[in-house]
Amino acid sequence: MDNFQLFNPVNVIFGKNTIGELPNLLKDKSNILFAFGGGSIKKNGVYQQIRSALANKNIIEFSGIEANPDYDTLIKAVELCKNESVDFILAVGGGSVIDGCKFIAHAAKFKGKNAWDILCGKEVKDALPLGCVLTLSATGSEMNTFSVISKRSTKEKRAFSSTLSFPKFSILDPTFSLSLPERQIINGIIDPYVHVTEQYLTYNVNAPLQTRQSEAILLTLIEEGPKALKNLENYEMRANLMWCATNALNGTIGKGVPQDWATHEIGHELTAQFGLDHAQTLAVILPAVLKHEFENKKKRLAHYGTKVFAIKGDSDSKIAKQAIEKTEKFFRSLGAKTRLSEYKITKKSLKAIPEQVMKVTGGKKLGEHGNIGAKEIGKILDLAFEK
Ligand code: NZQ
Ligand code: ZN
Repeated sequence: MDNFQLFNPVNVIFGKNTIGELPNLLKDKSNILFAFGGGSIKKNGVYQQIRSALANKNIIEFSGIEANPDYDTLIKAVELCKNESVDFILAVGGGSVIDGCKFIAHAAKFKGKNAWDILCGKEVKDALPLGCVLTLSATGSEMNTFSVISKRSTKEKRAFSSTLSFPKFSILDPTFSLSLPERQIINGIIDPYVHVTEQYLTYNVNAPLQTRQSEAILLTLIEEGPKALKNLENYEMRANLMWCATNALNGTIGKGVPQDWATHEIGHELTAQFGLDHAQTLAVILPAVLKHEFENKKKRLAHYGTKVFAIKGDSDSKIAKQAIEKTEKFFRSLGAKTRLSEYKITKKSLKAIPEQVMKVTGGKKLGEHGNIGAKEIGKILDLAFEK
């Protein structure tokens, strides 16, 4: 196992009616930016619950943070924070609202001229504190340091990570996710699934605990995901999906083990260029990355096939191949598309993607072996396009 540091200070408050904790959690705060998305929280009643829980506070509302939060929108909230002396940001929504608020929190304290620099590796030394009320479980943003921001004007999508992004608290009430449309439930199964594979389908470093923790999340998603899609009003199933999603990217399973993230890096560029949902890109790219990296990942894929899909046999190659097929089959069984050719995307329009990915990484090759450059990304996209 590799050396590691683990630090995660997020106060997670999980379960039904936990919104009641909000006044207590915010008792020392005066001017609270209440940030949310396009209005789903007004339809499912979460908005009203929060307004009444914070009736005695000075609340400054900021709505309209879109899926794949846009820099130009967030900058407006930064101005609001400065003008209204905001001392706390409450993010209410899915990964996009939370990520957007992490960026707003940093940009409000940023001393440089161009806040986009935060997304280009500029060091950040200060940020406003934030807390979350999660309404869509998928990204794990509620318990991690990452934030992924889009800039539609230039078709860019970039991420930054800062320990100042850790939410002070995250309220996870699975009831709030019961209003999700099917497409978002599917996204909320696939995104955590791929967060796990990025940290698990690499190579063995003798870390059986992290290996089994990863398998536990995958098996739970495979078990609970389809059930949740058939029982749209079932709290227990949604609670299990929510806790899987948080655990898939709160740092624990990836400690001391190699990590991949090629699927995510390529996927982000597909969202930037074509507007696909984050998880839609992953369902298409993961099988292609696994096929392209077959020799490097074969042993681990065979282990995965045996433990997660109970595939039997004595040939690693055969089990590994079946494991990729089963992964794709699982995504399709949920209703996800797994080939780029199923979207309105032409092969020609993919030409610029490899170089764009390399631009975002600053030329750093992808994958746990650092062997996936522009040429390899081109081949992965070809595999992802195949009918
Ligand atoms: O804006 P509203 O009206 O709220 O609608 C949202 C949005 O349209 C809707 N929604 C959310 N909760 C709902 C609901 N609709 C009905 N009922 C509810 N309870 O769902 C739509 C999608 O929401 P979004 O927040 O965009 O989804 P998700 O949580 O999947 O977040 C995706 C973003 O997170 C980034 C992605 O790149 C993407 O930008 N990621 C963030 C990560 C992180 N911070 O660690 C890691 C991930 O790999 C990912 O890159
Ligand atoms: Zn993801």
